Amino acid sequence: MRKVFIAANWKMNKTIGEAQSFLSEFVPLVHGVRDVDIVIAPPFTSLHAASSIIKGAANIQLSAQDIFYKDEGAYTGAISPVMLTDAGCTFVIIGHSERRQYFSDTDEVVNKKIKTARRYGLNVIFCIGESLKERETGKTKDVLSSEIDEGLKDIPLEGIVVAYEPIWAIGTGKTATLEQAQDAHRYIREKLASIYGNRAREIRILYGGSVTPDNINSLMNCKDVDGALVGGSSLDVNRFADIVKYRERQKD
Ligand code: PGA
Repeated sequence: MRKVFIAANWKMNKTIGEAQSFLSEFVPLVHGVRDVDIVIAPPFTSLHAASSIIKGAANIQLSAQDIFYKDEGAYTGAISPVMLTDAGCTFVIIGHSERRQYFSDTDEVVNKKIKTARRYGLNVIFCIGESLKERETGKTKDVLSSEIDEGLKDIPLEGIVVAYEPIWAIGTGKTATLEQAQDAHRYIREKLASIYGNRAREIRILYGGSVTPDNINSLMNCKDVDGALVGGSSLDVNRFADIVKYRERQKD
C-alpha cells in the first residue's frame, strides 16, 4: 500500500562534476526499478546539473537538503522555494538533525520551512529523532512527539514523508536494532494518527542512520519502515544502487 521510498542525502559532499558522473552511472543502474521512489539530494550547487541528468528517468526525483522560509529578499546565503523548483526539485529535506545542531534550526523554524515548501508545491522529507542522551534517559517518545507537534503544527499531511533518524545512529556505523526502529516507527505512526486520523496509515516513514546494503533488507522487513534516508552509503554509486535494488538482491 505504501510505495517504498529511498533517498540519498549527500550532505556537503560532491562537486558538480562528481554529481554528474555519479548520476550518469546511477540512472542506467536503476533503470528497471519501478517499485521504489528514488530521491537524490545533492548540495545546492549541483541541483541544476543533476536535474538535467535525471530528467529522463521517471523513477528518480530531485531534492534539496534545506530551504529558507521567506519567498525572496535580503537574506544573504539563503535559498528560496522558487529557486528550488526552478532548479528541478520536487522535494526538500527539512529538520535534519545536522541543521538543528549546526545551524540552530528550531522546531519553530522547521515548521515555517515546511509551510513555505508546501505553499510552493514542494514535497517534504521531515526529519525527527532523539539524541543518545534522550534515548538513555527514556525520553525518545517525548522527543518524537514534540517534534511532530511543533514541526507539523497547522500543516496537512499531503506531500510529507517523515524520516526517523536517531541522532546517535547517524554517520556512526551504529544502526538502531530492528526492534528499536520498528518501535519508534510504530509510535510515530500512532502519533500521526492521533492528529490526522486514518490518513496516517498512508504516510511513509523512512529510517535513517547508518543504512547500508547489508542492513537495508532487515530494516525494510519492519512493518512500519517504508524506506530509508541514506547518508554515507549513498555517496558510492554501487552501494546506493544496491540499497535501492535490495528486493532484487534478496531473490539472488
Ligand atoms: P548516514 O546519514 O547514513 O551517514 O548515517 C543518514 C542521514 O543523516 O540522513
